[in-house]
Amino acid sequence: MLKLRKFFALAAVLAVAFAGAAFALEADEVLVGACIYKFDDTFMTGVRNNMKAEMDKIGGELEITDSQNRQPLQNDQVDAYIAKGANVVIVNPVDRTAALPLMEKAKAAGIPIVFINREPEAEVMQAYDKIWYDGAKAEESGTQSGELIVDYFKKNAGADKNKDGKIQYIMLRGEQGHQDAVLRTEYSVKAMKDGGFELEELGSDTANWDKVQATDKMKGFISAVGIERIEAVLANNDDMALGAIEALKSEGYNMGDPAKYIPVVGVDATAPALEAMSKGEMLGTVLNDAANQGKAAVQVAVAAAMGKEVNKETTGYEVTDGKYIWVPYRKVTSENYKEFM
Ligand code: BGC
Ligand code: CA
Repeated sequence: MLKLRKFFALAAVLAVAFAGAAFALEADEVLVGACIYKFDDTFMTGVRNNMKAEMDKIGGELEITDSQNRQPLQNDQVDAYIAKGANVVIVNPVDRTAALPLMEKAKAAGIPIVFINREPEAEVMQAYDKIWYDGAKAEESGTQSGELIVDYFKKNAGADKNKDGKIQYIMLRGEQGHQDAVLRTEYSVKAMKDGGFELEELGSDTANWDKVQATDKMKGFISAVGIERIEAVLANNDDMALGAIEALKSEGYNMGDPAKYIPVVGVDATAPALEAMSKGEMLGTVLNDAANQGKAAVQVAVAAAMGKEVNKETTGYEVTDGKYIWVPYRKVTSENYKEFM
């Protein structure tokens, strides 16, 4: 009798083990469903292309959809991925403060969720054991872009055009509420102060990461304060820095005449920004590493879908507090920009 009971217990254990084995996926069997907040974003297009390239190497399946900057649409897209049996979802949220319901959908389906580029609030990150965030520390990029301006002022006596010992600057901010907009603004200002400069903000506005909006805003600032008063332009990303440069060029600035030059810095190190640096139109930028952020997103998603522990060994990336992959920023100057082209 005892033997028989032992036999049944063993059989039950084996049945569970076999069921488990049948569900355990190989890397090339994983289906990843990904949503990007909008395809029409220069930096996220870089991340997206690197996600695809990484999945091509792994051999699994990656579907990517355009959330068209609409959160309700993105919520439906996540539902659709779950309904078709995706093993994991990667989400670049439209609104990072609306990550909770997305996490809850993944949790209810029992699949992992990897957020990228737009950081969910800490409470959301803590409320599920299969949630990760892959991005970069916004503070770091803010500090580095402020330092680019500090270095320029220290090296160029003429940079302080009105000789008042202060930096008169314009700030072009990213989307309201985005951690990269808030923290890059704050930390770039802090870096200029820490660099020993007094500051005077001549203008600050959001241009929503967008080049055309930045050109418009910059033209407005130029007519409001006068171009000769502006001593620096800081933009939260390269598209907006390039938009500001368009406005400067329409006034004959940043086109080669050293008497008509205003240092402009951005963040991302996109191809057009590096090109502008090579032409002397843009002072510098900060590498927002799309290659590693894209690669890490897929590595984490696949490891999690396979039921592996997500760590440096299984993904190639350091995982902080079991949940965060922080890809470092790097300062890009006239000395090293060619490395990034
Ligand atoms: C990038 C921006 C981009 C934004 C999208 C930021 O990290 O610097 O260029 O528009 O992410 O969320
Ligand atoms: Ca000054």
